[in-house]
Amino acid sequence: MRGLHLGVVVLSLTVVGCEQDETRPNFEYAPDMVSSVPYDTFAANPVTVDGKTLLAPVKGTVPRGHQPLHLAAGPEEAARAGRELQNPYPASPEVLARGKVTFSRYCGPCHGPEGLGDGLVTARFPMPPSLLAERAKQLPDGQVFHIITHGQGLMPPHGSQVAPEDRWKIVHYVRTLQDPARTARKDVP
Ligand code: HEC
Repeated sequence: MRGLHLGVVVLSLTVVGCEQDETRPNFEYAPDMVSSVPYDTFAANPVTVDGKTLLAPVKGTVPRGHQPLHLAAGPEEAARAGRELQNPYPASPEVLARGKVTFSRYCGPCHGPEGLGDGLVTARFPMPPSLLAERAKQLPDGQVFHIITHGQGLMPPHGSQVAPEDRWKIVHYVRTLQDPARTARKDVP
């Protein structure tokens, strides 16, 4: 008889426990993760000058390690780059090795592994001019750097994909493609 009473009590407690008022929130344990104490990034903020939590960077701020390039896109600016910019990296075996890797990643698909303009995409994309042609050989280093950064005609810009130092190393590598004897001579230590 006792066992039966106990069973009834447990059963009725369970039934009561299952009853839910769905219009009210359940018991929350440690709700700090849900209701964050600090201001959210994009929330209004009564303390800051412009009323926003995420402060705008101070005017003229430059990200750490960023090298600003004061040259716009276009052929005149490309020619100016050719006059004003010098390759800051001396050609060494390491620089050329890195240039080769990045060239084959970013330029080879269009320009081909040797720069002849016969990359894989030329099946569907207009064939680029050969980088071994006299015109490309005459382009100063700074202008090639500018063409990589901002593109030229049908060639898309690569400034956002290829880091500035890699662009300069690619320039060295392109010079080696144009003049294979260069690596054998004294100008590559
Ligand atoms: C999507 C294909 C494509 C990619 C990728 C590409 N290029 Fe080009 N490139 C072209 C085309 C097309 C031209 C001709 C552009 C024009 O003048 O209309 C060109 C032109 C050039 C020129 C100028 C040649 C001249 O005679 O005027 C240089 C230098 C050059 N590319 C270097 C590079 C380098 C270095 C890379 C890699 C960082 C690269 N390109 C990536 C398609 C590409």
